[in-house]
Amino acid sequence: MTSVLLSSVDPVSAEVDALVLGITDELILPAAIPAATRSMLHDMLEALGAKGKRGEITKVPSGGLAIAPLIVTVGLGSDATLDAEQTRRVASAAARALAGTTSALMHLGEPTPKSIEAIATGALLGAYRFTHFRGAGSEATPKPINKVVISGNPSDKADAAALHRGQIIAEAVNAARDLVNTPPSALPPEELAHAAIDAVRKLPVTVEVWDEEHLAAEDFGGILAVGQGSANPPRLIRMEYAPKKAKGTLALVGKGVTFDSGGLSLKPPKAMETMKCDMSGAAAVIAAVTAIAQLGLKVNVVGWIPTVENMPGGHAQRPGDVITIYGGRTVEVLNTDAEGRLILADALVRAAEEDPDLIVDAATLTGAAVVALGDRTSGIMANDDDVRVAVWESSQRAGEVMWHLPIPEESRGTLDSHIADIKNIGDGKGGMLSAAAFLREFVPAERRWAHLDIAGPAFNEGSPYGYTPKGGTGAAVRTFIQLAEDLAEGRLG
Ligand code: BES
Ligand code: MN
Ligand code: ZN
Repeated sequence: MTSVLLSSVDPVSAEVDALVLGITDELILPAAIPAATRSMLHDMLEALGAKGKRGEITKVPSGGLAIAPLIVTVGLGSDATLDAEQTRRVASAAARALAGTTSALMHLGEPTPKSIEAIATGALLGAYRFTHFRGAGSEATPKPINKVVISGNPSDKADAAALHRGQIIAEAVNAARDLVNTPPSALPPEELAHAAIDAVRKLPVTVEVWDEEHLAAEDFGGILAVGQGSANPPRLIRMEYAPKKAKGTLALVGKGVTFDSGGLSLKPPKAMETMKCDMSGAAAVIAAVTAIAQLGLKVNVVGWIPTVENMPGGHAQRPGDVITIYGGRTVEVLNTDAEGRLILADALVRAAEEDPDLIVDAATLTGAAVVALGDRTSGIMANDDDVRVAVWESSQRAGEVMWHLPIPEESRGTLDSHIADIKNIGDGKGGMLSAAAFLREFVPAERRWAHLDIAGPAFNEGSPYGYTPKGGTGAAVRTFIQLAEDLAEGRLG
């Protein structure tokens, strides 16, 4: 794993394998580099055809201009004062270009706490690799950079705190990515519960796990119905972080379908290829609770993870079955592939019992979300307009791409059942919205709730972009952490 640290050493004197310097589109190097060196490097970069375009990487042998044998420049673009997101992307591009290198000093410009945090996060997210399942002796891609030294003052409180925050957030996102990338055979519900316990082993977080008997005794009918088609039994995981002087309580709920075959409403093979990602919401909850506890945020956080494997075994639920959700409401299950909402319904009812100030769930809930918003934007829906906007603002602050949508009245209408309280599919139109309308039925009207449909962004089937790798992305982790911080600081009402 890559480590990050601060150093206020003069960049050209740093004893590292590579010196990473930001350059503007006029090929101007940071002021911390001696003027003569700057002008020599400028001419070399010009001769090499460098343009300083944002994210552009150029490698130059240092030839004695620095202790580091290699100088790597990264383009900052025309506006050399970058915002946090631009900085994360630039640092990520640099970290990726450093694969195979042991250590590097990154100096993109005069450091500030904000830039330090963004560089740490970007570098760690960009350096991410998932190699756990490579066979012995396999020639894996070059090893990620070992050590990234970031320009900054290690004895300055604000600089050190910024590095710490950036590192914890990035490590949480990477931990969620690992869980999502793990093959489904290696991560059935029981293993996901173990992963939750392991993640917080050294932290002031308590974890409770309801097994199938406990779930049956308390009538968690949604989790049991979806879980009954699999040989791997379901679980409900509860994680609680309760610091002293907490300002309010945030409940985070994550869909934990460790594999979604569709059940008897079986998916076609192509659609199943990525369905190990159907526990991305759960991964985000585990990772966010871990990071929130590590950061010591002054807010109570309860994480709820209903986790099942949706399989078409001999005991599987059938289209036409009527099930009873925790709390007593009945659902006519007409499509066993609309399973996420069934397990989330149980968890939402249970989460609301504890009177949290805000409930936010994240779920790879609908293919319709991908049709509506594409694969890089999550949908936000809520039972209250202020909450919908406030959660969107938190997502913006966190640097995740999300957009908010309504839950129109007609979406709820399509869910009317002839024989039960509600059915689990609508008329096929606006599927992201009718899924949200279904979930809303299981949250008491006065309880503030938002739902994140992360079906698109949770898993990247294409090439890496920015600091987002192929495969699991860690979607919703940063927004969840930001929500906890915003609640602690009174920004969420
Ligand atoms: N896990 C899927 C949604 C999904 C699709 C996530 C693509 C990520 C990428 C969910 O359980 C599902 O199957 N939803 C159905 C609902 C339908 C039957 C109402 C869908 O979207 O097709
Ligand atoms: Mn499904
Ligand atoms: Zn699913």
